[in-house]
Amino acid sequence: MDGSIAGQTAWVEVCRLEEIPRQGSRVVATAARGEVALFRALDDAVFALEDRCPHKGGPLSQGIVHGHAVTCPLHNWVIDLASGEAVAPDKGCAPRIPVRVEAGRVLLALGGRG
Ligand code: FES
Repeated sequence: MDGSIAGQTAWVEVCRLEEIPRQGSRVVATAARGEVALFRALDDAVFALEDRCPHKGGPLSQGIVHGHAVTCPLHNWVIDLASGEAVAPDKGCAPRIPVRVEAGRVLLALGGRG
């Protein structure tokens, strides 16, 4: 690998970038974090959140992606994809999973904290 892996973080390849629709999402099932929603913005930025809205658990992966945010399909909360935080006036946070794209491969940090 590239030597930047410190040892405690296990980066796991979950799919390829082109398997996530632009301005869309894809769900991957993980043992460590359950269902993880991967989001790909128009500018190809990729984000990963647990696929549960902080409001009432709606499937964020089925929401509308706009900019670096997603609107929950159930009650229209807007969740910032980079932080997982609900946009004011709503309050809550969808847990983030560290994600990176390397040579077209999407990797999640799934090791260590479950
Ligand atoms: S469950 Fe997402 S806005 Fe209510």
